[in-house]
Amino acid sequence: MPRFLRLLLVAGLAISSAHGASSPHSGWTLVPGAEDLIAAGAWSCVSQVSAGANALTISAGSSYVTPVNTSGPRLAVQGDFSVLATISAATDAGAFLTLEGALSTGPNFWNGLKRLDLGIGGGGIQVNWWTGDSATPGAQSFPLPSGTSGPIPLEAARIGTQLVFFAGGTELGRIDDPGIFASGRVYLGFNVAPQNTLTVSALAAAMPSDGSSTVTLSSASLQTIPRTGTALRDLAGASGFLVGAAVNPSLLSNSAYAQTLGREFNLIVPENVLKFDATEPAPFQYSFCAADQLVAFAQANGMKMRGHNLVWHQQIPSWVTNGNYTPDQAANILHDHIVTVAGRYQGKLIDWDVVNEGIANSPPYGLQPSYWLTQLGSGYIDQAFLWAHDADPTAKLFYNDYGGEGLGAKSDAIYNMVKGMLGRGVPIDGVGLEMHLTLNGAPSFDSLSANIQRLGALGLQVHITELDVRLPVPASDANLAAQAQIYQNVAAACLANANCTAMLTWGISDAYSWIPGSFPGFGAALMFDQLFLPKPNYSAVWGLLAPLSSSVQIATDGTGVLIHGGTSTNLSPGSLVDISGANLATITASAPAGAAALPLTLAGTQVSINGAAAPLLYVSPSLIVAQVPYEIAPGAATAVVTNNGTVGNPASTAVQVAAPSIFTDASGHALATNCTAPGNFATVYLTGSGPLDNPIPTGTVAPLSPPSSETLTTAVTLGGQPAMLMSALMTPGMVGVLQVTFAIPPLPAGDAQVMVSIGDAQSNQALFCVSQQ
Ligand code: XIL
Repeated sequence: MPRFLRLLLVAGLAISSAHGASSPHSGWTLVPGAEDLIAAGAWSCVSQVSAGANALTISAGSSYVTPVNTSGPRLAVQGDFSVLATISAATDAGAFLTLEGALSTGPNFWNGLKRLDLGIGGGGIQVNWWTGDSATPGAQSFPLPSGTSGPIPLEAARIGTQLVFFAGGTELGRIDDPGIFASGRVYLGFNVAPQNTLTVSALAAAMPSDGSSTVTLSSASLQTIPRTGTALRDLAGASGFLVGAAVNPSLLSNSAYAQTLGREFNLIVPENVLKFDATEPAPFQYSFCAADQLVAFAQANGMKMRGHNLVWHQQIPSWVTNGNYTPDQAANILHDHIVTVAGRYQGKLIDWDVVNEGIANSPPYGLQPSYWLTQLGSGYIDQAFLWAHDADPTAKLFYNDYGGEGLGAKSDAIYNMVKGMLGRGVPIDGVGLEMHLTLNGAPSFDSLSANIQRLGALGLQVHITELDVRLPVPASDANLAAQAQIYQNVAAACLANANCTAMLTWGISDAYSWIPGSFPGFGAALMFDQLFLPKPNYSAVWGLLAPLSSSVQIATDGTGVLIHGGTSTNLSPGSLVDISGANLATITASAPAGAAALPLTLAGTQVSINGAAAPLLYVSPSLIVAQVPYEIAPGAATAVVTNNGTVGNPASTAVQVAAPSIFTDASGHALATNCTAPGNFATVYLTGSGPLDNPIPTGTVAPLSPPSSETLTTAVTLGGQPAMLMSALMTPGMVGVLQVTFAIPPLPAGDAQVMVSIGDAQSNQALFCVSQQ
């Protein structure tokens, strides 16, 4: 061979070895798309791996590190395949390519683990394998191929029933395959001994060139989970209610985890990967890869996603807190963080926990000490919401906190703060109630509901954001039952208030919960147990959500459709009607106060009477108050309720010209002017007027002038005595309410029965209190 050719060849070999170009053993070819798994492997999502453009570096401290890429791409394999890695290590203490066919099922690292390590160790090439039932691996060593120095191009191949190992295309040896990749999956990772550093300069997958096997790249975050149609999300989703869980993308590769998540929940919140330390690990250097995986999973499975969180006193990286920044610099850091992170996810997240836990958890419930409070001052909360709103004007912006779920000093502090923010025009849309509860510390239904309601009165949404109820472990049956009752109370209090639109648990399964780590001795806090089986608290929540999607039923026992305030099944055009039943509405809602007309759809519910839409005053799962359309002619009529597209049973009723029904309070007293003496005028309120001289369109409030007066003969008796009628007209500003004003006849003081007749029809009897003259 001419000398220059030989030089060229040597130089070429050196170059290819230094750059670690992958080429499989002979007769095999690289898998399309998997030629460069350093670039295509989404390694920046994997902690403990430092991902450069051309190489991965993994450094171990005092113990082994074994980063496995469970959230990014893995291989799906049928038949023969191989993985190639060109590796070098600081020492020969142990540095391996790790391939896992089945991930650990816990609690020990080796439980269920099917794993093959191929790498440098003990002065040669070493292979270790685990089959799921012992901590001790099978092991085999091979001498380093002669002349090897620098990066070593290794290849681990499954060929038939054997695992075969190559260095630089030359076979080192083989073992019988104990079925390590029988799952058809191959997760890629590395294993590095203490104090060692592994550099991976090439990573690829290969297969036989003859096309006898199938090898593709797939990703846990893109899997589509099968749906049952009867899971929590199906029941809740029928009414637009959101049930969610806090999620870690690194666990999406656990099949039970991903299946439960996609099957049961329609809302995801990242447990950690959107926090400051995860998204901005170094100054102005952002990392979105892990959060992007959750967005991808949510989109692939028709789920929504919350953002958690932009500003918190915890999980701030030390580059911030130790950075000796001036207040201006700190403000700039926070501003850049909020606009970058919220801006990046604009349109992808339904809402953001903008400020997390900003109020201290002990008296006097002032602002929680934090880096941001120290640096920016007490205006930082308002400021954060303004910046977040600029960055993502479509996301709903929440203040999120714990310990202020029921009524009490902390919830008062939260209430007052958010009320103040609204008053200052700060763009806040909601309050997140975390609810990390204990059996003894849970708020009652009433207290929680009242707090949700008062926030609603401010115009704020509420989400139950981080529900868990921790129990001493192992959990007793009695405690699991008590836990179920708390879950039920929380869910019921949320569902009872139209402004409470989501409930999330802080995790999915007790196998992966923050509780055991943060509250030693406690656990079992979530709705699925260690094996992802539903617990009693799941059934409790399921039972509450079930009516949301099951059939809409008007009661058929004679109480189904009644004139409002009375007991009569007779209605009249324009009167208010009570419709009783089950699943009539998903939530409780009232028509907006002060509007000129009632809505025809309220919280997704509609009523039709003889095909005409009936305006709605109030809807709840068991009761609707609606107006009978004026165009309904007297005679037999049929009412139908539709709840979010689900059509209920037709219910028969009767409409007559007039059907007076006096409104009463709980004690049977007419809603009227209080205790009036004989000779004075009194007004009682009722529904069910006859024709009006100044007709009012269905659903609209009665005019002040000219008033709409009753045209049929109207008479009032009080205590059996005829009373002089002054007027009978529709109450201005109200829909379907008639007011009848009369003079009190001479009667002794005390309660007397009042009755109104319109035309031929008589009202119910109500009590009226006559006072001393
Ligand atoms: C917790 C996570 O669950 C842990 O994994 C992490 O180590 C610390 O933070 N309130 C919150 C959540 O708002 O962000 C916290 O999450 C739990 C308490």
